Amino acid sequence: KAMRKKIVAGNWKMNMDYNEGLALFSEVINMVKDEATGSQQVVVCSPFIHLHSLAQLGKGYANIAIGAQNAHQNESGAFTGEISAKMIKSVGAVYVILGHSERRQYFGETNELLAKKTDTALANDLKPIFCIGETLQEREANTHFDVIKTQLAEGLFHLDETAFGKVVIAYEPVWAIGTGVTATSAQAQEIHAFIRAEIAAKYSQELADATTILYGGSCNPKNAAELFAQTDIDGGLIGGASLKSRDFTDIVKAFN
Ligand code: G3P
Repeated sequence: KAMRKKIVAGNWKMNMDYNEGLALFSEVINMVKDEATGSQQVVVCSPFIHLHSLAQLGKGYANIAIGAQNAHQNESGAFTGEISAKMIKSVGAVYVILGHSERRQYFGETNELLAKKTDTALANDLKPIFCIGETLQEREANTHFDVIKTQLAEGLFHLDETAFGKVVIAYEPVWAIGTGVTATSAQAQEIHAFIRAEIAAKYSQELADATTILYGGSCNPKNAAELFAQTDIDGGLIGGASLKSRDFTDIVKAFN
């Protein structure tokens, strides 16, 4: 675990106007700049509108990076209203969330589409934070392992080893997102270990051991330390709690 990069990433979703976002990020920088050291990284994934300014504010803090929450699968062209990976990269973002369950659910994003988005993000030197996770019905039907397996196989396992090595995975059980119901640390660890085993079977144990796998879903300052202490949990993807600088910083500190 010590060898892997540890990440706490905030996903603001569609929250914060421009000025609110800048104020929040300034607070976060001040509170985490001395915390995120060594192999630990803090990532803030904001709406597109904020990316350029946040990247400017974050310059000079090696362990603080900016990410987008989505990117288009095509390089460029007649896709009115869309944002390309190249544009995101050009304003100083390093990461892009792909396949968030809200994109899958409300915007019809499929594993096949997400495989294309992953390729385009990587071709433009963005690191995908690739989200996977089962719904409540799927868990109750006891198909959660199959769902995870398929999402990995269809969304990511077309990549070669070098490309896969740039991907961060986020396990977000859909039933835990924004619900206040967190997966228990044992439930999360079980899936994280399964994901790592799938990577080892597809690529190698070495690559599996080097892959950062985040947990997301009602992660908060109270439960973060126990989640992050699990063998295969390398950090978190934080929704609601990332909108409050104190809560987000407390989650970052939960590693220590
Ligand atoms: O991407 C993070 C997210 O979906 C989790 O949201 O509000 O449950 O922390 P939340």
